[in-house]
Amino acid sequence: MFDRFNRNITYLRISVTDRCNLRCRYCMPEEGVALKHHTEILSFEEITDVVKTGVKLGINKIRLTGGEPLARKNVAELIRMIKAVDGIQDVGLTTNGTLLPQFAEDLWQAGLRRLNISLDTLNNDKYREITRNGELNDVLTGIGIAKKLGFDPIKINFVRIPGVNEADEKEVKQFCIRNELKIRFIRQMDLATGAFSPVEGGEGGNCSICNRLRMTADGKIIPCLFSDVGYSTREYGIEEAFAKALHIKPKQGKISVNHNFYNIGG
Ligand code: 5AD
Ligand code: SF4
Repeated sequence: MFDRFNRNITYLRISVTDRCNLRCRYCMPEEGVALKHHTEILSFEEITDVVKTGVKLGINKIRLTGGEPLARKNVAELIRMIKAVDGIQDVGLTTNGTLLPQFAEDLWQAGLRRLNISLDTLNNDKYREITRNGELNDVLTGIGIAKKLGFDPIKINFVRIPGVNEADEKEVKQFCIRNELKIRFIRQMDLATGAFSPVEGGEGGNCSICNRLRMTADGKIIPCLFSDVGYSTREYGIEEAFAKALHIKPKQGKISVNHNFYNIGG
């Protein structure tokens, strides 16, 4: 499907939950967030239906995000269901990595191969500080297990947080080289001001070639990270929700007031 600026939309990022086991400072307020009731969250069947309709419209690539996607029960089963949809060439998952020790094997068995893992520092205390009490060792163990299982590519997301982790960049980069991981540097974004920049080492942030739509955990299709509107697949029907979002996909992203990273997954 083509938008008004002739961009071919082939990529759908699906948030499978607004929940997260961490509270990263750049993403969530400390007290957590008003979580959606579970009846609002799409079932695996509903998500798979969206994927099937998406394929008819030209989607061939899916990424699961959150919140933390591994905080949703049995996500491996959803991966199996999505991979079984004819026309899906590519499924990836973006995770904070802390639950990988528990779930990497299931994900592998379900056929997942592509992982993006957030890692903003290699210092235990700083990791705790950034994530408000996350355990760095869980992530490192998770990365180790994922490597051993054979996940490929494994990409590390490093969010540059001014005044906090500039000094860690080199070390994380070295770690990635040593462990044959790809690394992407992401400027910390402020969704309230709409200030953002291209992702170094990734395709995000370049509006002119943007090929993506997003879906929130409650099934709203969102045209752009910086849009404050979404069209509910439950309310409008899947095809119509896609059509509406496609139609208002902006030439360039700007100010969003309603969305946060925990409900659109970056
Ligand atoms: N700015 C930039 N990146 C962010 N992420 C979460 N919040 C922000 C923000 N404010 C990143 C996470 C993860 C991805 C899903 O989004 O670090 O890598
Ligand atoms: Fe959770 Fe990711 Fe947000 Fe951190 S950035 S609180 S890991 S969703």
